[in-house]
Amino acid sequence: MRRIIATLAIAACTLPPAALANPPAEIAAIFKANNCTVCHLLSGRTVVGPAYAEIAARYADDKAGALPVLIERVRKGSDAKLWGQAPMPPSPKLSEAEADAAVRWILGM
Ligand code: HEC
Repeated sequence: MRRIIATLAIAACTLPPAALANPPAEIAAIFKANNCTVCHLLSGRTVVGPAYAEIAARYADDKAGALPVLIERVRKGSDAKLWGQAPMPPSPKLSEAEADAAVRWILGM
């Protein structure tokens, strides 16, 4: 029984809500390779980090201004506790170009 509950919990964490479009394959590959998906859902609730839809909403008024700041935070990590949860660890494998593509997709640019 415990194992079934654990399996369901894991499934609930990894399944994106049907309503939000899945990222294109190259963006999904970046998310997967850098474990972004472990902490972020596309939309809905906060896992460890906020859902991408929440992040997009927060910076919707100034996407161009947010882009370089978010690229930096995604690559180097964020301990600012901006979202009142946990810090985000750095993603050292993530290139500048990959971070740019990922953040642009999150912001809907
Ligand atoms: C171990 C969990 C974890 C991983 C892995 C992770 N994040 Fe995060 N992410 C967080 C947390 C927690 C926050 C909120 C940090 C804060 O409040 O300062 C966050 C915040 C963010 C933000 C918003 C930052 C801001 O300044 O508002 C973006 C964008 C983001 N993550 C994208 C990514 C991408 C892209 C990846 C993969 C390259 C990734 N995250 C990997 C946990 C994670």
